[in-house]
Amino acid sequence: MTDDVLVVHGGTPLQGQIRVRGAKNLVSKAMVAALLGETPSRLFDVPRIRDVEVVRGLLELHGVKVSDGADDGEIVMDPTNVESASTDEINVHAGSSRIPILFCGPLLHRLGHAFIPDLGGCHIGPRPIDFHIQALREFGAVVDKQPEGMHLSAPNGLKGAKLELPYPSVGATEQVLLTAVRAEGVTELRNAAIEPEIIDLICVLQKMGAIITVHTDRVIEIQGVPRLYGYAHKPIPDRIEAASWAAAALATKGEIEVLGARQADMMTFLNVFRSIGGEFQITDDRVARPGVTGAEGGIKFWHPGHELQAVALETDVHPGFMTDWQQPLVVALTQARGLSIMHETVYEQRLGYTDALNQMGATIQVYRDCLGGTPCRFGRRNFKHSAVIAGPSKLHAADLVIPDLRAGFAHLIAALAAEGTSRVYGVDLINRGYEDFEGKLAALGAHVERL
Ligand code: EPU
Repeated sequence: MTDDVLVVHGGTPLQGQIRVRGAKNLVSKAMVAALLGETPSRLFDVPRIRDVEVVRGLLELHGVKVSDGADDGEIVMDPTNVESASTDEINVHAGSSRIPILFCGPLLHRLGHAFIPDLGGCHIGPRPIDFHIQALREFGAVVDKQPEGMHLSAPNGLKGAKLELPYPSVGATEQVLLTAVRAEGVTELRNAAIEPEIIDLICVLQKMGAIITVHTDRVIEIQGVPRLYGYAHKPIPDRIEAASWAAAALATKGEIEVLGARQADMMTFLNVFRSIGGEFQITDDRVARPGVTGAEGGIKFWHPGHELQAVALETDVHPGFMTDWQQPLVVALTQARGLSIMHETVYEQRLGYTDALNQMGATIQVYRDCLGGTPCRFGRRNFKHSAVIAGPSKLHAADLVIPDLRAGFAHLIAALAAEGTSRVYGVDLINRGYEDFEGKLAALGAHVERL
């Protein structure tokens, strides 16, 4: 356990430039989509993170040849010989990620059966998979849930269906897309998620030969096709990582330019950042200028040099404020004057990390009520899902244990902002979703070292 500890000497503003690559929450799904093609696919700008390794391992177990391409970050996936894998081999990946559930449709199309291990991912609530199972059954899949995992078959093939999600779930929408593209007939999905990563996955599938229409009001129509082919794709940049570094700039009173970050995907975040008093500049004008070659744009975020202001906001599905932006931003909000409110409406238990911030000197109170706006699904269900953050608070160093990916990054930011030396235990979890975060911290002038 000792090599999984980062010692953070806080109190230094983070300053400099880092780069984000393809979004974790698109790249991993695009890799699954490669299974559906009859020819190899190429994905660019793939970050070196653990979730990618998990999907790569599962693809390889099923006979997909995965190799590094010519470009840095390029991978090539050849699905010509997809084959069954043993339950034992698949189970090696049990508990490691949420992505394996998305193998259902593609494996059913390719092999007629599938085994999905017990899922992992962050512990941010019960994270049920009932929408996924319901949708797969409506396509004609037979789903047998066993303690070791889920066995699926499609004795009569998969057929298009009319579906409506109870909530616009990202994963369930992806499940439907990855299954419907090769199901027989037309699928209509109502109350679909429309996150930019979903639209990018639709772009990938369209490149492969799929026919998918995104209508207004969260309705997606998919016309099944008998064959799909490989794709070449540069993914949407990681807007969660970009926002995490933006929050780090604000909390440490620094200035960070996030190369690769894209304004269009982050408008809601940028509005909130500005409301708090944070400053930013979109630096993509460099690339647009004639004669400037090789320059890469992004977004530069910095602390204004004066006191930050409190805000009231709630997390929501797109185009709302992302639930994954919440935790890093709350650390910055501990430095804002007044009472900020954060109403978490996507996950019922995503505020547990605030206990550690309170130990560091923050004043955050969590409530079961829906504070600050519209009542949500969790209001009458006794979940502590609203937080009131009173600031500004001077943060001091502490020993912290990382609970999950985004909360973990928030803890790290708090340690960087705090005066004194903190120990952050379990930091390897951050590698699940943040490529080379230690290298990036060093590039930004942070004083951190492995124990
Ligand atoms: N839900 C159900 N039943 C289901 C599926 C979802 O009740 O069958 C509920 C969930 O419990 C939750 C809500 O629906 O309350 C939304 O969950 P969603 O399915 O949208 O989340 P997900 O697909 O499991 C992805 C990201 C998360 C991100 C959410 C919301 C990946 C691998 N994960 O999760 O990212 O927070 O969408 O945008 O894409 C992260 O990157 O750290 C992360 C947790």
